[in-house]
Amino acid sequence: MSRVAYVNGIYVPHDQAVVPMDDRGYHFADGVYEVFSYNVNHVFVDAGPHFERLRASLAALNIPFSLSNHSLLIIMHELMRRNRCQEGFLYLQITRGIAAREHTVAHTLEPFMTLFIRPHVFKKDPPLLSVFTQPDIRWKRNDIKSIALLGNIMAKYGSFEQGGDEAWLINKDGFITEGSSTNAWIVDQHGVIRTHPGTRDILNGIVRQRLLKMVASLGFALEERAFTLDDALKAQEAFLTSSTKGVYPIVSINDHPVGKGGMGPITQSLQQAYWFFQHSLLQDDGKE
Ligand code: PDD
Repeated sequence: MSRVAYVNGIYVPHDQAVVPMDDRGYHFADGVYEVFSYNVNHVFVDAGPHFERLRASLAALNIPFSLSNHSLLIIMHELMRRNRCQEGFLYLQITRGIAAREHTVAHTLEPFMTLFIRPHVFKKDPPLLSVFTQPDIRWKRNDIKSIALLGNIMAKYGSFEQGGDEAWLINKDGFITEGSSTNAWIVDQHGVIRTHPGTRDILNGIVRQRLLKMVASLGFALEERAFTLDDALKAQEAFLTSSTKGVYPIVSINDHPVGKGGMGPITQSLQQAYWFFQHSLLQDDGKE
């Protein structure tokens, strides 16, 4: 069975899905996106917070968008049904619309929405990852989930070429902001869980937000305070989070082992807690 995609109101075979030449996403990366995970209970995990972030990204770019969360969910579930998808991801992109290439256009332009899915089984046992640091050369609004990701892509290649799985981005003040497509966490040498605060310097991940609540309820020490490479190299544990991965342990940073070199006990508790949450039926689906 071939995969099905959604192109602005029409369900089409994925390999025949095309976007118009004059899509502003294509000309200017003038658009935003979200990646949802979808579980075996036919639930989009934390859809409510994803919609909230989507609307914040659209508002920041002044892209008008009138579809309700309820209507979006109907389209998303229908796409999963047509793909007979049991478990996986859904990618949703909204661009400012279709117009001849001019830098500015009327705000009355109709936005253009595309969706596709990818089946994926979220394994209970995560892989052990290595990261390499790269300079954070991105713009100053990383809180917007923009489709312009060149700075992220360049960093990820920089890490891949050294054999890394992910890049950790270091800003001009020497702090690690986040990964190229994930949020960055350590358990510091004092046993405190640390991650960069949710400022404009990072994408405030939906898994990050969920994990902050879990950390509080599990009673671990936590500080939303940026850490340096030196802090990371002295850390007892390190891990990353994202909707496509959940919680994955990091066992080496710039070829130095983290802590004892395997998945640490705090990372393991959080990884398991998130895995069970991700597979649960009870979810905030964001329906008004
Ligand atoms: N990436 N930081 C960046 C730069 C990201 O691109 C992502 C997500 C995250 C984690 O956000 P969340 O927990 O909401 O998935 C942090 C998605 C998955 C991607 O681009 O594929």
